[in-house]
Amino acid sequence: MTSRIDWVADSCRLLTAISAEFAATQPFAGLTIGTGIHLEPKTAALVMTLARGGARVVATGNLNTTQQETVDYLREHGVDVIGGPTSDPAQHDRDLRELIAVKPDLLLDNGGDLFARYLEKPWAGLLGGTEETTSGRVRLAPLRDKLNLPVLVINDSPIKQFAENRHAVGQSVFESYLRLTNRSTGGKRIVVFGYGSCGQGVAANFRNAYGLVTVIDTDPVKRLEACLDGFDVSDRDAALRSADVVITVTGARDILLADDLPLLKDDVVLLNAGHFPLEIDAPALLAHPDVERVTDAAEGLQTLRTRDGRRIHLATGGHMANLAGPRPLGNSIESMDLGFALQARCLEAIALGRVAATDVVVPVPRLIDEAVASGYLELVAGVRG
Ligand SMILES: NC(=O)c1ccc[n+]([C@@H]2O[C@H](COP(=O)([O-])OP(=O)(O)OC[C@H]3O[C@@H](n4cnc5c(N)ncnc54)[C@H](O)[C@@H]3O)[C@@H](O)[C@H]2O)c1
Repeated sequence: MTSRIDWVADSCRLLTAISAEFAATQPFAGLTIGTGIHLEPKTAALVMTLARGGARVVATGNLNTTQQETVDYLREHGVDVIGGPTSDPAQHDRDLRELIAVKPDLLLDNGGDLFARYLEKPWAGLLGGTEETTSGRVRLAPLRDKLNLPVLVINDSPIKQFAENRHAVGQSVFESYLRLTNRSTGGKRIVVFGYGSCGQGVAANFRNAYGLVTVIDTDPVKRLEACLDGFDVSDRDAALRSADVVITVTGARDILLADDLPLLKDDVVLLNAGHFPLEIDAPALLAHPDVERVTDAAEGLQTLRTRDGRRIHLATGGHMANLAGPRPLGNSIESMDLGFALQARCLEAIALGRVAATDVVVPVPRLIDEAVASGYLELVAGVRG
């Protein structure tokens, strides 16, 4: 049987094409690329693409997300992997520092961890690199003057915004609701907190599945957008009173609190899709004096039984439901293929000296967005421009 890593790699059509091109053009010949990104099947496809382009890749993972099968696979294929699965921040810090000690020529960062440590002890010869996330951009932007080399932020590409945050998160949160509950959505009242890129996708996916969706957002402009998109945007507490499913995806904390418990109706499902497990105050809900007992209802679902006889179901303890619970698959392979094609092309452009030293912590260049979009349209959608 082939592994899931092979299934993912075969489904990454853009990376497969870029990999074949890199094998011929060798943009990273003689260079070392240090990567500090989740080590799971989709990133394995990216790391192997960089290696086929001639790079020596030295990789380490992120806290909590490293998959041993991927580590083994990468090592078997000649990648230097530092460390393994860990939830110990001190061990993770040691792994990152061991990678930095190699003094790579390019860095592929996720959250600014590598560039921040590079600045503690800079070395000559670092050409620049990429940063995957918004949180990394927020961390590195004030350090532009010190960095003074090309750093391209993948999250700030419009492709990442709509392909991953809107389409893929919406779809995978919907898939996770079905996976965790095995319940229907038709005619159900769904309340979505947050109407950013992710919330828009979540709201659309549940409506497309015949749910009656209410959107709650603190920003009146976003509420207007949701209203014009045809969603109910009425009163928060009234929406919570009738909700069958409540989904938080705001990036803020304290969205659903213990004080909301009296509002919730019997049999409601609470699910967080925001990055941190701070949107639904799970500890306070579980400890609420009105909660008589808590039972494990199914894998990834806890049921809080209230003294007045209601059942409140909490998904994955308030952690991101599409990346937790039984067999989490995360975002679609196609969305990650697009994001990682941006990564590969950005690193190539920096390696070949095509990005100015003044492009420090800036979005993906427009030409790369256009090339990746055209590639997907031709290769995956079968459409020629
Ligand atoms: N689950 C996943 O796989 C996944 C993937 C990408 C991003 N995320 C996370 O999803 C979250 C949202 O991301 P995004 O890109 O949509 O962010 P965004 O900033 O584009 O949108 C967030 C929205 O939430 C609203 N909001 C803020 N506080 C609120 C409150 N108290 N009540 C109601 N609305 C509030 C904001 O006005 C904004 O419209 C972030 O935590 C992000 O890290 C999750």
